[in-house]
Order: sequence, then structure tokens, then C-alpha cells
Amino acid sequence: RHRVIIDTDPGVDDAAAILMALASPEIDLLGLTIVAGNVPLADTLANACRIVGLTGRTDVPVHGGVAGPLVRDQVYGKYARIGAFAEDLVARSDFSPAGEHAVHFLVRTARAAAAAAEPITICAIGPMTNIALALIQHPDVARGIREIVSMSGAFTALGHRTPWAEFNVYADPHAAEIVFRSGVPLTIMPLDMTFQALFTADHFARFRDQGGKPGRALFNLFTTFDRSDVNRFGRPGGPIHDATTVAFLVRPELFTGRKATVGTQLTGLTMGYTYADFYQKMDRAQNAKVMTGVDEQGFIDLLIERIARHGDT
Ligand code: BDR
Ligand code: CA
Repeated sequence: RHRVIIDTDPGVDDAAAILMALASPEIDLLGLTIVAGNVPLADTLANACRIVGLTGRTDVPVHGGVAGPLVRDQVYGKYARIGAFAEDLVARSDFSPAGEHAVHFLVRTARAAAAAAEPITICAIGPMTNIALALIQHPDVARGIREIVSMSGAFTALGHRTPWAEFNVYADPHAAEIVFRSGVPLTIMPLDMTFQALFTADHFARFRDQGGKPGRALFNLFTTFDRSDVNRFGRPGGPIHDATTVAFLVRPELFTGRKATVGTQLTGLTMGYTYADFYQKMDRAQNAKVMTGVDEQGFIDLLIERIARHGDT
């Protein structure tokens, strides 16, 4: 059973990832750490609490984290109009954030995990500011982390947030580079792979019909903030990027990938561009497994099945 912290900036696909983790017995969800990203921190924090509140899982603490990037000026997601989830999309609840700061929670939990020889896994599905700060503040934190599964990067699927960069890296490239160089084992879920699994209106209807309150909320969010792009994908449907990190922990055999040296461009026009050296052309150790393929139907079926589990609650 994976002991997991999800570091997140909800976010519509973040909501799907969180709900999938909450419904997966393979995952012991230790808490959520929240970062600014798709929308400002006050909104990502409120949205995370709403999502957890929907499930009644008040045993999972939600920790507010860092409000902006380390160096660059702040940018929000393309879907910044998401703001705080409207009440008619995701019902309000009384569930409120834990008092402890996200970076502190990450440090404390990872250190305790190292001491107990039970390292944790982090699903990193927003800009990596909280995680970078935890690793910088106390480098021994790395010893308590078995793996960071990070939705980040675009190696050939360019032209997403900028012509070169994927959003989570673009929004805080310095934090991403700190994490990439931290020595913690990394699994990267880039756009190149997430773009291969497209969810359509039929799939969203199954969230709604089978997934209880949480499933209805996801239906509302995905149909309001439509991610389909026939121009780009050549067929109907849109990706649910962040849920791939949770699916990877539950069913790794759905994914194929290879080792690479991964890093980030920190300045200029191409800031946030991620490179992957698959053929060891650079004089640097390989630091990541990059997932390049996904079993589309397998991933879609798994996510629908997990969301449907909320229908029983
Ligand atoms: C990433 O950016 C955000 O908009 C999504 O939530 C996802 O984490 C995709 O580039
Ligand atoms: Ca996200």
C-alpha cells in the first residue's frame, strides 16, 4: 500500500486525481498539500477542501502551502476563470484546512517516514514550489521519499501553455529544477503521454451516473471547463492529466516509459521548456523515468471504476 501525499492546485483534473486516490485501497492518503497554480492559493485551498468535503473523508488533512513561485512572476492556468469552484458545481462543506503549513507537513511526514523506514510517495500535480522548499529547507527529507510521481513536462507535445512549456513547470521552473536535481527517484507523466488518453462526454456522464455526489461534481466541472481540442487531438475528448499519477500507483502496467535525464530551461523565451535526454548525450546521470505511453482504454476504465466507488458512499 502506497503512503501518499498529493501536492496539488485544484484545478479540475486535480479534483479527479484526488477523488481517484480517495477511492483506491492501494493508496493510504496521508494528506493534501496545496499550492498556487491553476488559480490563486486561496482558491486552490478552498477547492481542495470542497473536494474532500464531498466524500466525508475528514481524516485526510488539507494543508495550505506556498502562494507563488520561487523566482519568476506569478502566472495562473489557462482556466483561471475556474476560481473557487462555483457552489452549483461543487457543493460547499464545513471541512476546513489543517493549521500546519504544507511545507512543514511535508518535512515532518517525510522525516518520520525515513525514521520508520516507510518512505512516502508524492504525487506532484501542480507547480512544485512546496516540494522544492521542503527539499531545500531540510535535504534529509529526500530520504523519506520513495518516489515523486510528477505530472510535468512536454518533450515533444509542445505548444501547451507556451509554445515550449507545460504549465506546472512553466509556473515555477526553478522549483521544478530543484526537484529534478534532488536525487529523489522521479516518474514523470508528461503531456506527451497524458494527451494519449482522451475523455469524452460519455465518460463524464458515467462519472455523473455512477459516482454519487463526487461523480456529479466531476461531471459538472469537466462539462463546464471543457478541455477537448479537436484541432489539436484530431478526435473528440480531452485529457485528465493529473489522474495519471494516481493511476500509475494503482496500475503501473498501464504505462510504458524509459529512463532519461530531465531538466528545465530557466530563462528567456523558452523558460519552462523541459528536455529529456533519452540517449545519454549529456554528461549527467539519468534522474527520471519518463512515461511515454498509456493504455488509453485501461486508464479510462480504471478512472471510471474508481469514481463509481464513490457512488456507494
Ligand atoms: C497541468 O496544468 C494544470 O492546468 C493541470 O491541473 C495539470 O496539473 C497540465 O499541464
Ligand atoms: Ca494540477
